[in-house]
Amino acid sequence: MTIIQETKTQNTIGQMVANNFRTAEVFRKHGIDFCCKGGRLLADICRERNLDMATIELELAEKTAAVTPISEDAYQTMALDALVEHIKSVHHTYIRESIPPMLAFLHKINKVHGERHPELAEIYDLFEGCANELTHHMVKEENILFPAIKKLAAASNSGAAIAPFYFGQLKNPIGMMEQEHTIEGERFFRIADLTSNFTPPEDACTTYRVAFQKLEEFQNDLFTHIHLENNILFPNALETEKKLMG
Ligand SMILES: [Fe+2]
Ligand SMILES: [Fe+2]
Repeated sequence: MTIIQETKTQNTIGQMVANNFRTAEVFRKHGIDFCCKGGRLLADICRERNLDMATIELELAEKTAAVTPISEDAYQTMALDALVEHIKSVHHTYIRESIPPMLAFLHKINKVHGERHPELAEIYDLFEGCANELTHHMVKEENILFPAIKKLAAASNSGAAIAPFYFGQLKNPIGMMEQEHTIEGERFFRIADLTSNFTPPEDACTTYRVAFQKLEEFQNDLFTHIHLENNILFPNALETEKKLMG
């Protein structure tokens, strides 16, 4: 059943979040409390606050739409420039869109439950550090490494000569990116440890559950993203550079 149908069958906000935690990001964006006031209906809230229900329903449908997975073989055979665009549009966008709601959820649960669960403060700090580092990391990829890889791909297609990169060989920026991937991967292992593998305590409120589900989803996306770069994009780019530049 889609979210729109669920709304029509009069599910509460809390039930919608319990059915699919991704809806929480849409409610947060519109300032709708799905946690302490989760027993209310979306239609009633929209009427009271003069919010456009159709817009919110569309956003809910977009957030919860199923994504068709791409096979490992398809990644392996994807052209370098297409893989760069895929990583940017899927994984870099996912990180940028996820950071604000995740910081808000983690901040809230630390404020409300931090006394009984002191690990929440460390989880917040770890995620905030990860968010800051990844933001810089992606800018470096998008401004330095990815344009160089796209230049190589274009030269490889056209057979045109290519001037040396100002940073020397591709292995220099790639080595730096790989080091940063290792640091963020380890940081997420620590988060997985502190959250008992993203398992909320029995008495956890809705926001607590959403925060942990979102952390797990973020980790899975990050590991796929790092796999695509470390194991497919970077080796293929190095091989193309070797063929073209010796
Ligand atoms: Fe990346
Ligand atoms: Fe990366």
